Amino acid sequence: MIRIDNLTKSFGPFTAVNGLSFSVAPGEVLGFLGPNGAGKSTTMKMITGFLAPTSGKVTVFDHDATEQPLKAKELIGYLPEGAPSYGDMTPRQFLKFIAQVRGFRGSELNARVQRVEKALHLEAVFDQPIETLSKGFKRRVGLAQAIIHDPKVLILDEPTDGLDPNQKQEVRNLIANLSKDKIVIVSTHILEEVSAVCTRAIIIAGGKILADGTPQELEARSRYHGAISMSLQGAGNAESELVKLPQVASVETDEGHLVVFPKAGQSLFAPVNELISKQGWQVDELHVERGRLDEVFRTITGEVA
Ligand SMILES: Nc1ncnc2c1ncn2[C@@H]1O[C@H](COP(=O)(O)OP(=O)(O)O)[C@@H](O)[C@H]1O
Ligand SMILES: [Mg+2]
Repeated sequence: MIRIDNLTKSFGPFTAVNGLSFSVAPGEVLGFLGPNGAGKSTTMKMITGFLAPTSGKVTVFDHDATEQPLKAKELIGYLPEGAPSYGDMTPRQFLKFIAQVRGFRGSELNARVQRVEKALHLEAVFDQPIETLSKGFKRRVGLAQAIIHDPKVLILDEPTDGLDPNQKQEVRNLIANLSKDKIVIVSTHILEEVSAVCTRAIIIAGGKILADGTPQELEARSRYHGAISMSLQGAGNAESELVKLPQVASVETDEGHLVVFPKAGQSLFAPVNELISKQGWQVDELHVERGRLDEVFRTITGEVA
């Protein structure tokens, strides 16, 4: 596993990462969530050994990232922010170069280059200079170099940033398919991504951890958790009738929907349904909210701002 102990990075008087501690186990896809400037990239650079910590420690499967950097780096695949590569190389040349740097030669090298070419669907552009590729293809080349040595640990810094919705979905599927026995840490500021791909999320802001839990646990911290969102027709008395239910804390209108909030620990589904049939309201839409991550995120990160 990966263990981060009291990790800190200062740039002059400014502390970008401030005493982070957490562990990640194989099979976990950890989302690193935070506003711009939170310290996500700086933390990832320290985990991957690109930046030396000011203090604290990173351990990758028992290898200290500072004392045994090569051992640690062998285990890690890293997609830096913006997927930098060499623009005048073709994907074939670039991936061969990376495979060589990773220590592969001969038929093993060729097999690995071929494997990632297929895995990332690079066939059509494999001999075209990288600088002439679309953003989506550039990102795939970046992902290809990150997985070419089949690392146990994948660190992906904003892998879907700037991609179109189809490309985003493609990268998410790829992460989901990769992650079975790996440790994946993926940074993002897109909240839907966390529910889509992560088994766990850490929210950081100002270089500190503000929350750590499963997406479901974080959603449960939302005031929308367990609320019922619905659209009714011709039910002018809905709001006043709904607030009379003993389980209901309040009712609000949100983008043309009624949102019914439960009192602590109360379940609304049965009583609201009962009221709907008693009143004969026509329901166009009704769902129980799991909680809204964006609201949790804003609440939590707003507290420090
Ligand atoms: N080399 C550097 N020198 C000075 N400040 C830096 C350096 N790298 C990052 N920072 C600062 O550290 C903070 C965290 O940056 P970063 O880790 O890139 O945040 P994030 O990836 O969450 O957007 C920012 O305020 C950034 O300006
Ligand atoms: Mg960043």
